[in-house]
Amino acid sequence: MVIKQMAEKFDVIVIGAGPGGYVCAIRCAQLGLKTACVEKRATLGGTCLNVGCIPSKALLSSSEKFEEAEHHFEDIGIEAKPKLNLGKMMQFKDGVVDANTKGIEFLFKKNKVTRIEGAAEIVEAGKVKVGKDEYEADSIVIATGSDVATLPGIEIDEEKIVSSTGALELKEVPKSMVVIGGGVIGLEMGTVWRRLGTEVTVVEYLDQILPGMDGEVRKESQKLFKKQGIDFKTGMKVTSAKASKKGVDLTMEPAAGGDEEKMSVDIVLMAVGRKPYTDGLGLDKVGVEMTDRGVIETDEFFETSVEGIYAIGDVIKGPMLAHKAEDEGVVLAEMLAGQSGHIDYNLIPGVVYTWPEVANVGKTEEQLKGEGVAYNAGKFPFMANGRARAMGMSDGFVKILADKKTDRILGAHIIGPNAGDLIQEVVNVMEFEGTAEDIARTCHAHPTLTEVVKEAALAVHKRPIHI
Ligand code: NAI
Repeated sequence: MVIKQMAEKFDVIVIGAGPGGYVCAIRCAQLGLKTACVEKRATLGGTCLNVGCIPSKALLSSSEKFEEAEHHFEDIGIEAKPKLNLGKMMQFKDGVVDANTKGIEFLFKKNKVTRIEGAAEIVEAGKVKVGKDEYEADSIVIATGSDVATLPGIEIDEEKIVSSTGALELKEVPKSMVVIGGGVIGLEMGTVWRRLGTEVTVVEYLDQILPGMDGEVRKESQKLFKKQGIDFKTGMKVTSAKASKKGVDLTMEPAAGGDEEKMSVDIVLMAVGRKPYTDGLGLDKVGVEMTDRGVIETDEFFETSVEGIYAIGDVIKGPMLAHKAEDEGVVLAEMLAGQSGHIDYNLIPGVVYTWPEVANVGKTEEQLKGEGVAYNAGKFPFMANGRARAMGMSDGFVKILADKKTDRILGAHIIGPNAGDLIQEVVNVMEFEGTAEDIARTCHAHPTLTEVVKEAALAVHKRPIHI
């Protein structure tokens, strides 16, 4: 006699334990839903914790200290000659990743989220298969993230032609590197290796780096990164990259057409964007609709074309950012528990963790002009801030854009020290539909970098004090 075992039943099964998935699972469990999270990696945390945001920030922080010691200590009266121990720097990074991924294991246990190891396949609405085991759930959440995109004919081998994953694991400091793509990954990882001694050339298809950011910030950032030693080839496209034992031979040509250029380097970093990752989920069979670029289509409740199957994070539309995925995870969990949730896509900050950092929220000047919105712009440089000067970090500015009639803040753009932290004040004020006047009349501690935000708000009304 064959005894058919009943599949274990959950309220919610989340597929993927990245920032979108694990946060969604925890919030579901907090709200009393019986929740499981399926993850095929041995460790939790997805791309962000394992091979993305967290290890890159460890290397950015360590390489920044190295550069400070090598080039800037002397300016402030410290004599030291640093020596790089790359192996140890990598060990530190791995330790940070390990601690973070274990932290999520702990959070799963604490919140009683069932962890299922393996690759999930959706058999039909309400049914998920992992290996030989089948599980049932009222709701299935797809949070499988994204994978690196590449260019036709260029193969990523993670040795000589690397993605961000390989760029976090290089065994020695390359002499030369070409970064294809002047976006967030290209600039962050290019910065790490430039600081450690690599000659870095960024090849960008468009005329300026950091597409989508405010024009002035794009211009200023390219100027500052160039001053730091990164070489830029903008308006250029790479047409081929061939790896050999010695390195990589590249061919490129002007995006607008023109003569070919050749270059040979040790390492090529491919950073031309990412694409939704849905391999092996069986979405075609189940009938989940996707765009021709592989983005899962969802309604305003994150539900796909199949009832009971939801999707969040990098697999759906919107910026591929960990905090966007997290917020979607929370909102969806609350809706699944019968509550209501809300996310304002205009208020998702973006941060590039170079030095200086670059951060933005809301509309750019170019967008406002395009939409015909009348606005006032207030700009204040870090150079005029005592604290920034005392830190020896006075590059950059804060720019605030406010509606001409109502003074409501429509956008903010920062390039400068700790821009990623400073932007949050403006995000919060915007969340409460606040005005430039609100920031200008709020007491800011002296001496801090936050005073630059206040002065930019004052500048919106043409009354900054310190310039
Ligand atoms: P990206 O979209 O930020 O930048 C890609 C760049 O490559 C663009 O500037 C584009 O114009 C350029 N490009 C495209 N095709 C090209 C070609 N054939 N030749 C030369 N240049 C070309 O993508 P990136 O940097 O790969 O990052 C992927 C995703 O990961 C992004 O959505 C990003 O937001 C996210 N991410 C976010 C981070 C953060 O928030 N700090 C850190 C790392 C990644």
